[in-house]
Amino acid sequence: MNNILLLASNIHKSFHSGNEEIRVLLGADLSIEEGDFVSINGPSGSGKSTLLHILGGLQHPDKGKVVLDGKPLYSHSDRELAEIRNEKIGFIFQFHYLLSDFTVIENVMIPLLIKGKRKKEAQEKAKELLSMVDLTNRAHHRPKTLSGGERQRVAVLRAVINEPSLLLADEPTGDLDWAHTNTILQMLTDLNINKGMTIIIVTHNKRVAKIAKKTYNLIEGRLEEKNEM
Ligand SMILES: Nc1ncnc2c1ncn2[C@@H]1O[C@H](COP(=O)(O)OP(=O)(O)OP(=O)(O)O)[C@@H](O)[C@H]1O
Ligand SMILES: [Mg+2]
Repeated sequence: MNNILLLASNIHKSFHSGNEEIRVLLGADLSIEEGDFVSINGPSGSGKSTLLHILGGLQHPDKGKVVLDGKPLYSHSDRELAEIRNEKIGFIFQFHYLLSDFTVIENVMIPLLIKGKRKKEAQEKAKELLSMVDLTNRAHHRPKTLSGGERQRVAVLRAVINEPSLLLADEPTGDLDWAHTNTILQMLTDLNINKGMTIIIVTHNKRVAKIAKKTYNLIEGRLEEKNEM
C-alpha cells in the first residue's frame, strides 16, 4: 500500500442565502494514496466542485479535517496555503478562470514563473504543451477571444505545467470534442503513470471511469465508493 497523500474526514459545508441554509456536504470522507487516480461523480448541485475546492485549500470546511502530506491543510496561514497550492496542487477549475490581461502562453507559463523558473525555460515548456493540444496558433491571443473548449485546454495546461503532486480536475473535458477529450485524458494518464501524479477528477465522462482506479459517488453530502460491475 502506498502512502496516504490526502485525507479528508467528516467534511461538512453549508451555504447561506437569505434565510435559507443550503446544506451541501454532510460528513464526506475520502482517503487518497500517492499515485491514485480517482474519479468523483454525482448529480449537478451535489457539491462536487465545493468538495474539490475544500480538498485543494481554496475553501474552509465548516467542520471536518483535510490532511495533506500528514499536515492539517487548514492549520496553515493563508500565505502558507497559497505557497502549498502553488508548490503541490494543480487545479483545473470548472469555469477555467484564465487571467484576461495575459495571453494564452502567459497564462500557461505563470505557475513556472511564480516558482522562479526563467522566462525562456517557461516559454519553451508552455509552447511544447500548447502544441500537444493544437493551440500553437493561439499562443499570443487573449483568453476572451477563445472558444470554451480552447479555454479549457489552456486551463488544463496551466494546472499541469508545474507537475504538481496532486491534480484536482473539475470536469476538465466538459467543453471538449471527442478528439481533444482523448488528448487530455491521454495527457492525464501519462502524468499519473509516468510522473506518479495523484489525480482526483470530477467528471461524467464514462471513459474516465475506466481509467480511474476508483470511482466515488457524491450522494446526499457523502462519498460512497462505487463498486466495479
Ligand atoms: N458560494 C455559494 N453560495 C451559495 N450557494 C452555493 C455557493 N457555492 C455553491 N453553492 C450551492 O451549493 C450546491 C453545490 O454546488 P457545487 O458547485 O459544489 O455543485 P456541483 O456538484 O459541482 O454541480 P455541477 O455538476 O453543476 O458543477 C449548489 O446547490 C450550489 O448552488
Ligand atoms: Mg461543479
